[in-house]
Amino acid sequence: MTLGFTLNHENVTIQTAADTRLIDLLRERFSLTGAKSGCLTGDCGVCSVIFNRMVVKSCLIPAFRIQNSTIITLEGFAKTDDYTDIIQGLSAAGVLNCGYCDSGKILTMETILAKKPRPSSRKDILAELRGIRCRCTEPESLVAAVLAIADIRQRRLYGRRA
Ligand code: FES
Ligand code: FES
Repeated sequence: MTLGFTLNHENVTIQTAADTRLIDLLRERFSLTGAKSGCLTGDCGVCSVIFNRMVVKSCLIPAFRIQNSTIITLEGFAKTDDYTDIIQGLSAAGVLNCGYCDSGKILTMETILAKKPRPSSRKDILAELRGIRCRCTEPESLVAAVLAIADIRQRRLYGRRA
């Protein structure tokens, strides 16, 4: 089938089988390798992308669902100031980063802060992070990073702390 969609702000068209996984299209047809091919069962989150403004696991999205959709991968998000906030916050919180889970970790953190720019509940942040598996970092450190990112973003946008 022929599919048209927007990928990292560019209109693209491809021919593919209806059941091809989005993760495979991104990596094999567009050479976008920020999203990783991990469990392929929706469990680890390393294949995450922003799909129609929501973070989804691209291993669970068959090609026929992407017609007319808007997709942003880690590569596209990496060109934004919001991405820079996250990298700075991870560093400020001392989070070690092998990079394997970046798509899931970074895009999920962005979703948390988009919903609530000044998160206060560690429990709520932990619950939001449950969909990703990071083998390098304890969940509590990721929570600390989210709080640090919130501070950095508030300072960048408004000149004050979260
Ligand atoms: S590869 Fe998609 S959730 Fe693990
Ligand atoms: S930073 Fe290594 S798996 Fe998350």
